[in-house]
Amino acid sequence: MELNALSEREFATIRDLLFRETGIALTPAKKALICGRLFKRIQVLGLASYGAYFELLLSGRQPVELQTAIDLLTTNETYFFREAKHFSMLSTVAEAAPRNRTFRVWSAACSTGEEVYTMAMTLAELGRVGRAPNWEIRGSDISTRVLDTARRANYSVDRTHEIPPDFLRRYCLRGFGPYEGSLLIDRALRDKTEFAQINLIEPLPDLVPFDVIFLRNVLIYFDPPVKRKVVGQLLSTLVPGGMLFVGMAESLNGLIDGLISFGPGAYCMERRQ
Ligand SMILES: C[S@@+](CC[C@H](N)C(=O)[O-])C[C@H]1O[C@@H](n2cnc3c(N)ncnc32)[C@H](O)[C@@H]1O
Repeated sequence: MELNALSEREFATIRDLLFRETGIALTPAKKALICGRLFKRIQVLGLASYGAYFELLLSGRQPVELQTAIDLLTTNETYFFREAKHFSMLSTVAEAAPRNRTFRVWSAACSTGEEVYTMAMTLAELGRVGRAPNWEIRGSDISTRVLDTARRANYSVDRTHEIPPDFLRRYCLRGFGPYEGSLLIDRALRDKTEFAQINLIEPLPDLVPFDVIFLRNVLIYFDPPVKRKVVGQLLSTLVPGGMLFVGMAESLNGLIDGLISFGPGAYCMERRQ
């Protein structure tokens, strides 16, 4: 089997399947990316073509393989302190939050967890100077592979350059011996986080309302109707006055009514009279 032997028909099959399962809209320009991400897997399974693999996915005989395909086809790029302005805004919102209840934050497409632990370090830092409410963070993603990494909270040092030195000292444990070259997020932060698989295009599970939701750098993969549905569902899980953050290049203007913008990617629902 050759790497690029993906026919137009086979491309249409995987495009439709991925859209149905995840809401991700693939354009024809993504053909080479599909080949690159699935080729090895198809070889490992000993199948003769992309078509044979897609038939297996569609047969429903191996639901676990469908999850593997989703894990391979989602783009999971993320890093600590990505679009850092949003974390200073999180800090400001947390500082002003009521103290008589837990301040709850959700990273709704958290990938391998760097976003969640950046939030955790930000809130812990505020707590150090006595200015934070009690807080907890939930992370979710459709990919079980990235969620496993997020739960482990163990990162290669090469991926932690954006963490300020003070935070590295306070919130990360450097690995020794077999763990040399990696670091573990401190248990005190890990204990305040929880991860679960949530597919944003499906009806959401019962959730206690959130003060802040990060939905960053995932809407770019969806078409406008899916974006509207996903954002609409998430807004309904915010407390009144709660904040929604999307990627700084992902505007919600013209997509959803009744949002007030607080700068690139930062929104709050208008309060009804
Ligand atoms: C590029 S990462 C963004 C990570 C992080 N939010 C950030 O900004 O650095 C996009 C994530 O969205 C997830 N994703 C894609 N479709 C999804 C869906 N339908 N439901 C939940 N997560 C989804 C992918 O698995 C991927 O981990």
